[in-house]
Amino acid sequence: MRKRIVAGNWKMNKTYEEAMALVSEVVNMVKDEVVGETEVVLCPPSVFLTSLKQYVPAGGRIALGAQNCHEKASGAYTGEVSAAMLQSIGVQYVILGHSERRQYFNETTAQLAEKVNAALANGLTPIFCCGESLEMHERGDYVGFVKEQITQSLFHLSPEQFASIVIAYEPIWAIGTGLTASSQQAQDMHLALRQHLASHYGDEVAQNTPILYGGSANAQNAAELFAQPDVDGGLIGGASLKSRDFTTVIKANK
Ligand code: 13P
Repeated sequence: MRKRIVAGNWKMNKTYEEAMALVSEVVNMVKDEVVGETEVVLCPPSVFLTSLKQYVPAGGRIALGAQNCHEKASGAYTGEVSAAMLQSIGVQYVILGHSERRQYFNETTAQLAEKVNAALANGLTPIFCCGESLEMHERGDYVGFVKEQITQSLFHLSPEQFASIVIAYEPIWAIGTGLTASSQQAQDMHLALRQHLASHYGDEVAQNTPILYGGSANAQNAAELFAQPDVDGGLIGGASLKSRDFTTVIKANK
């Protein structure tokens, strides 16, 4: 059985006090209200990761993730954070290739392949994001485009390395827009991506890889999205900033 995961991507939101309030609420609600096997990943701005860790019970169902890491091991890269630094403070996951990083920071598929390598070399699980723009979606050739994003940044990995990969399909037209993909659209793409993994790595790897959906997933629509056979959870933006909404999304992931 592959893992079910709900990850909250806080993006560039919250002050220190707001972040500590949110994590303590989420920790309490998850403890009291959530049953089942879902792994919860909190991805705050990296400046808050160490402080957040004090609120998150060790060995529990909540893990910490970063929103990015640099591809190089160390050195003169002012402003950047390495995978080894994240690992050294107890971070387990790192979001890589988010469309906002591709768009605003010009991250390329080749650079993302290096970031994936850096993350894996330091024991971090990449949550690798892929997804098409509205323009591409309307043109109709988007499935091939998203497959290619995966091919270029991930298919150099060995099957053993690929066992540590989580994929997040996030159609750009659905991010922060309130326009979520329908559950059928999400299922169709997730199945196509799983078949793509199977074509390169075989069925076992494909069946064991969690594929999360992201893009305006919220307390209202999460249950239907997560009920699809190839949707293994979500990467949640806006709805992860409110503890009640985020907990409802987690509970929807059965
Ligand atoms: P929203 O849930 O706010 O649409 O954001 C999705 C996302 O980009 C998560 O990484």
